[in-house]
Amino acid sequence: MASHAASPLPPPNYDESAVGKVVLPDPLTGPDGTVVTTSDAWRRSARPHQFELLETHVYGRRLPPLPVTVADGGVERVAVSLADGVAATRVQARLRLGPEPKGRLVDVLLYLPREARRVPVFLELNFRGNHAQHGDPGIRLSTSWMPKDDAAGIVDHRATEAARGLNARRWPIEPLVSRGFGMATAYCGDIFPDRADGRPDSVLVSLDRPVDGALPPDEPGAIGAWAWGLSRILDWLVTLPEIDPARVAVVGHSRLGKTALWAGACDERFALVVSNNSGCGGAALSRRNFGETVEVITRRFPHWFCPAFAGYAGRERELPCDQHTLLAMAAPRPLYVSSATEDLWADPRGEFLAAVAASPAWRLFGLEGLEAAEPPRPDTSIGDRVGYHTRTGAHDILLEDWTFFADFAARTIPAAR
Ligand code: GCU
Repeated sequence: MASHAASPLPPPNYDESAVGKVVLPDPLTGPDGTVVTTSDAWRRSARPHQFELLETHVYGRRLPPLPVTVADGGVERVAVSLADGVAATRVQARLRLGPEPKGRLVDVLLYLPREARRVPVFLELNFRGNHAQHGDPGIRLSTSWMPKDDAAGIVDHRATEAARGLNARRWPIEPLVSRGFGMATAYCGDIFPDRADGRPDSVLVSLDRPVDGALPPDEPGAIGAWAWGLSRILDWLVTLPEIDPARVAVVGHSRLGKTALWAGACDERFALVVSNNSGCGGAALSRRNFGETVEVITRRFPHWFCPAFAGYAGRERELPCDQHTLLAMAAPRPLYVSSATEDLWADPRGEFLAAVAASPAWRLFGLEGLEAAEPPRPDTSIGDRVGYHTRTGAHDILLEDWTFFADFAARTIPAAR
C-alpha cells in the first residue's frame, strides 16, 4: 500500500539509468492468457479483456450513457470575425447531462468555419472555463467552481472578467478554423470539480454512483467522469449538421490528456485520440518510475482514478496492465501522443515507449503504428497511424502541437468521398 498519507512525498527519479529493465504485459493478451494474432480476435477477446483490466485497476468502470438535452434557451449561433480575418460561427449551448433535476449543466463552446458542412472537430475539455480559452467577449463567463488560482482571475473560486482569454495560447482557434476544423470545448469542472471532495458536485450524482464514504475499488473518479462527459458532449455534437459525426477527435492536455485517452478507450465513436503531455496515468508507462509515480499521483490527486490504482504505489510492476495497453485501445483508429522536452515530470521517453509498445495492436489490422527505436529529434513528427512528437519547451499545449495534430488529422481522418 501507499505510505502513510502524512509522510513526505518521495522525490522523483530523473536518472534514466535508475529506471532499470522494464518488462511490459503484452497488450494483445486475451482473458485466457494467449496472445491474439488477428484483428477479429483482438476485437472479440483481447480488447475487451485489456479494457476491463484498465477499468478494474486504473480508471474504474465505464459509466453508462444518459440522455443529453439542450437547456436554457437553446443553441446560440453567432457569426464572428476572428483575428487574421478568419470568418467563423461561434456556437454556445448549455447541455443537461441526464434528466432534471439531477442532470449537471455543461456549457459547450464551439467555433466552426463559416458555412461549415460536415467538418472535422477537435473536442477538448479545458481547465479554467470556456471564457479563458479565447478573448472573444461573447463567450459566456463560467459560473462554476474553480480551483484557487489568483493568476487566472479567479476570486473566491469563481471566474471574473479578468480571466478572459488567459489560456488562449492553448487553444489557437484561428489557424485551426481557417484550416477547416471545428474547435469544441467545455470546462472540466462542469462535469467534476477538480478537488478531492468533488464527487457530490459531479455528474456521478445523476449516475447514482456513491459520492462519499468508502468507495468500491473499481469506482470511477474524476477521469472516468470527465471521459463520460466528453461522450455526452459528443452525443450532442453529432446532431449538428455542420459537423461530420465520423470525424470528431478527442484531445486533452495533461490531466485532461489522461482523460482524452480514457474517453477514446471508452467510446469508439471518437475518430482520433490525441494526448498531450499526459504523463503518469496517461501515456507514460507506470513501470518506469521516472518523474511522477503512482504513489505521488494517487496521494496528491486521490479523486482522479479508481481506489484500486493507489494500491499499486511502489508496486507498479505488479499491475496487470500499463499505459501502453490504454494507448492500444485506440486501435485501429489513429492515435497521436505528444511530449515536451522540459516536461520530465510527465516522462517523455515513457510516453514514446508506450506508443511504440502499443503499436502491435495496429499491426493486427495491417496498419503501421509507431515503428521507431528512439524518439525523433524535437519538433519533428513521426509515425503512421500512431503519431508522436516532442515539442521543445515546457509542459503546455501550444500552436506547434496543434499544427502537428491538424496535419495528422488531415492525413488520418480525411473526409469520406
Ligand atoms: C500535475 C500532475 C500531473 C498532471 C498535471 C496537469 O502536475 O502531477 O499528473 O498531468 O498536474 O494536469 O497539469
